Amino acid sequence: MRKQIVAGNWKMNKTASETESLLTELQGMLPDTHAEVLVAPTFVNLALASRQLEGSAIGVSAQNMHFADSGAFTGEISADMLLAIGVETVILGHSERREHFGEDDALLAKKVQQAVSKGMRIIFCFGELLDQRKAGTHFEVVASQLKQALFDLPEAAWKQLVLAYEPVWAIGTGETATPEQAQEMHAHIRNLVANAYTPAVADAVTILYGGSVKPGNAGDIFSKPDVDGGLIGGASLNAADFTAIVAAI
Ligand code: PGA
Repeated sequence: MRKQIVAGNWKMNKTASETESLLTELQGMLPDTHAEVLVAPTFVNLALASRQLEGSAIGVSAQNMHFADSGAFTGEISADMLLAIGVETVILGHSERREHFGEDDALLAKKVQQAVSKGMRIIFCFGELLDQRKAGTHFEVVASQLKQALFDLPEAAWKQLVLAYEPVWAIGTGETATPEQAQEMHAHIRNLVANAYTPAVADAVTILYGGSVKPGNAGDIFSKPDVDGGLIGGASLNAADFTAIVAAI
């Protein structure tokens, strides 16, 4: 069976002391689950989160990283820096990185390549904009994002990849794709991977849904056969909401 994952993307939220408190709450409230549970605090709090969660059932992910090993890249963070504090998973390609920081598929392909070569696991985010959904081009948009950033990777690298379909119109808006829309796109994604690689690779890859997942809709979304969990933004900042979403898988 495919691995199921619920990951909380904390974005630019929570100071150090707030991070400690939220992690303590999460540790106290986490339900028994077969799914892997991850949180992605901001860079400055990753080391403390990694220490606090050592040996616990909750893992830690970074929200981004640079493609170079080291060097003159003011303000950036390398794979080795993450690995040195026990962070082995990184979110790449989030729509906010694409929209506000100009990250395009070519840059993301370099970041993915670097993370793969460093042995990291990547949660790769992609998804269409509202006008693309309205124009009916969402399947092509997603195909192009995957092709440009991922489909040059060797098959072996797919063991390190988790996909996260996040329709941009559903992120932080309260607007969710219906479980049917999520399933339809996830099946399309699996098909694209099967065609680019093999059906076995497609069958094995975990595909998360992200975009306004809340305790009230998580169960329906997660019940779909090609939805293997969620990438949770806003609702991951509240321990009761996030643990209720974990319980729904
Ligand atoms: P949201 O964010 O759950 O607040 O919509 C999801 C995400 O950006 O990963």
